[in-house]
Amino acid sequence: MSLSITLTINGTPRTVELDDPRVTLLDLLRERLDLTGTKKGCDRGQCGACTILLDGRRVNSCLALALSHDGAEILTIEGLADGEACHPIQAAFIAHDAFQCGFCTPGQIMSALGLIQEGSAGDDPERVREGMSGNLCRCGAYRGITEAVLEAQQRMSRDAR
Ligand code: FES
Ligand code: FES
Repeated sequence: MSLSITLTINGTPRTVELDDPRVTLLDLLRERLDLTGTKKGCDRGQCGACTILLDGRRVNSCLALALSHDGAEILTIEGLADGEACHPIQAAFIAHDAFQCGFCTPGQIMSALGLIQEGSAGDDPERVREGMSGNLCRCGAYRGITEAVLEAQQRMSRDAR
């Protein structure tokens, strides 16, 4: 059985034939579309490494069936930079040494973008930590991550004025 779905991924419509209705968005992105920036950690919704924005909301792509999201808009880490220019969240992660091995970083950055767009964290480090608590970092770079999210949030709100 072959099933066809169309997704808009990083602004580009992509039609994909699924040969298995159980394929997740994570596996579709990594294995069919060569978008390997989205990482597979636990593959069971516990680490956040696979975070993407799905119709503007952050989700664990390892738990999302591709077939259930025909027509959706997806943003992955590959869609953030503007040409050679880093996205403000990427720049803030670099400025604050908010990573070590980097494995969790794409998921952290996508989750940060979702958090900032939700507008619920404000400038309170504790609320940022809580809002980012679904994204684990085995290297323990949490301090830099929190600082980076706070700085990116300030810059993005300044840029939006
Ligand atoms: Fe999806 Fe861990 S790989 S939450
Ligand atoms: Fe290594 Fe987070 S930087 S897991």
